[in-house]
Amino acid sequence: MSTRTTIAPFFDPATWTVSYVVADQATRCAAVIDPVLDFDFKSGRTGTASADAIAEYVVAQGLTVQWILETHAHADHLSGARHLQQRLGGLIAIGERIREVQATFKKLYNLEREFLPDGSQFDHLFKDGETFRIGEVEATALLVPGHTPADMAYLVDGAVFVGDTLFMPDVGTARADFPGGDARTLYRSIQRLLALPPATRMFVCHDYPPAGRGPAWETTVAEQRRANIHVHEGVSEGAFVTLRQARDATLEVPALILPSIQVNVRAGQLPPAEDNGVAYLRIPLNALPAARRG
Ligand SMILES: [Fe+2]
Repeated sequence: MSTRTTIAPFFDPATWTVSYVVADQATRCAAVIDPVLDFDFKSGRTGTASADAIAEYVVAQGLTVQWILETHAHADHLSGARHLQQRLGGLIAIGERIREVQATFKKLYNLEREFLPDGSQFDHLFKDGETFRIGEVEATALLVPGHTPADMAYLVDGAVFVGDTLFMPDVGTARADFPGGDARTLYRSIQRLLALPPATRMFVCHDYPPAGRGPAWETTVAEQRRANIHVHEGVSEGAFVTLRQARDATLEVPALILPSIQVNVRAGQLPPAEDNGVAYLRIPLNALPAARRG
């Protein structure tokens, strides 16, 4: 296992999200992955406690943030990327297929004409297989669609940050029923991740721990191949698709999907303020498919 990088997890118990700071020890350069902006739907208030905890760690460790990486446009939390960029700098990056997600949701929310679904809200759009550097450490962006069309995983120094593809082995995999999601595509993306060297450390973006264990976020490719309840070795594509679709049919719409996506397609920027100086979120009525209950 390489020791060139340090990996610091930040677990947000309100949304079950795990954000990370990955730092090159030699140069003290770092990437932040999937930071959270706190949001209280009842009051309409955003908060920065979660993101500020990351910023305080970065400052205390003397790190320079080069990248703020999003694995995808999250549907369960607002992104803290813009807030962290204002505090720490760095380029906000996501997969280039975010444009497809932006086009879908520009229509759903009927966003303002000036919002262009061209990815320009981000500082960098990764292509599949593109390499980049965190200090002197080479990293690779891997396209792993299925949960959404634009999901990326980031491979850094023997560790892979898999976003919402695989969860911990006893939790399984991410849902594939959002707009543009597809269970068969997710299976193929997961196979790509499981083909990495068995000792590759794997870090998930969420944990929904079963009763009896606390939150966890780190596993390995070997452990996922052996024990993932949805896609361990021997589970065929057809069997996975059947299982995933059956499970998705029982899942509630995430509580924060409507607030989250309209902020996250803007790279964590809140919508523009209206002429009274207040910014508003939009709630499309009777436009999303009804929650299906199994
Ligand atoms: Fe997600």
